[in-house]
Amino acid sequence: MYPFEGATSFVTRAWYVAGWSDEITEKPIARTILGQSVALFRVSTGEPVALSNRCTHRGLPLAMGTVNGDEIACGYHGFVFGLDGRCRRIPSQERVPPGIAVRQYPVAERWDWVWIWMGDPAFPDYSLLPDTQELGLGGDPWLAVRGDDFHVRARYQLFNENLLDLTHLSFLHADSIGTPDLLESQMTVDVVDRTVRVERCTRSEQMSPFYARRLGIPIGRIDRRHVTSFVAPTFHVVHVIAAKEGTGVGPAPAVLGEHKILHAITPETETTLHDFWALTRTYNTSDEMTAYLRENINGVIRQDIVALEATEAALAGCSDRPLEFSCAADEAALKGRRLIQQLLRAERPPNTEEKRR
Ligand code: FES
Ligand SMILES: [Fe+2]
Repeated sequence: MYPFEGATSFVTRAWYVAGWSDEITEKPIARTILGQSVALFRVSTGEPVALSNRCTHRGLPLAMGTVNGDEIACGYHGFVFGLDGRCRRIPSQERVPPGIAVRQYPVAERWDWVWIWMGDPAFPDYSLLPDTQELGLGGDPWLAVRGDDFHVRARYQLFNENLLDLTHLSFLHADSIGTPDLLESQMTVDVVDRTVRVERCTRSEQMSPFYARRLGIPIGRIDRRHVTSFVAPTFHVVHVIAAKEGTGVGPAPAVLGEHKILHAITPETETTLHDFWALTRTYNTSDEMTAYLRENINGVIRQDIVALEATEAALAGCSDRPLEFSCAADEAALKGRRLIQQLLRAERPPNTEEKRR
């Protein structure tokens, strides 16, 4: 599936945000993740649980069932499943035949996000969960606020590449966060393990009114360091440090303010996704500023979504591998693609696919 080899682009050995903490309650909800329908709910201890949404009896969505204590009863014929997905009771008979179960997915709650592991449930790799302290979600001097959940009709890699590319800011977001200086700034791209790190520094950049209001300073010139860390397959940290003009690119910038915009992208199907975004910042922690930032960031994301959905719609009419030309600014996006391709190959070695056919 473009831009990757093979029929699917889903990396399963990874954590994805299944939902916001407060969406997941004792009343189950259904959400499709990597093409799999999942029932999400909390048991009486408050622990979040994810089970396959298809009841193993006749397939009623388990999210239509009822949670009691630490189990869920299907709403059709009352089969009862435990947290491990095993069927504990069948109301119409004494005995539960061995092996009746629905798939259970490991989950982990970090900050306001509930993460789900889509690989082998017996081997969740907790070391791959993001470090909330490092992200600025652990309190002082950072103020973290949740953003929204955008549903986007585009394949996840289009969003990944949008976030890894700063050159579109000067065009698609010319009226908000884009400034022509970004186009001229030097970019460095490094790859370490599952992360692509892209850094750009601008000097004596003319601030946009939007940016000046954020920092609470008069419009003028600043230096800005823009570091995007993409953790494959779908997590992004966009860290922006604004510094006094003439100090920002050295080792000790006179920092005016910093923020990180976090995007946790969860593929829903091969061509749709959720973006659960969040913001953490060190400047102006007022509610008014939070509301202002949320509205503005949502506005920027909506501009991206228009481009992403139109690109996806155009892809629908293309052959599997459309002709495309890349430019120097696509270095990070291409390195990101390569990382994901490696993860996909590690999960599905080409000869395994061959053998299956
Ligand atoms: S479909 Fe769930 S118990 Fe019958
Ligand atoms: Fe954008």
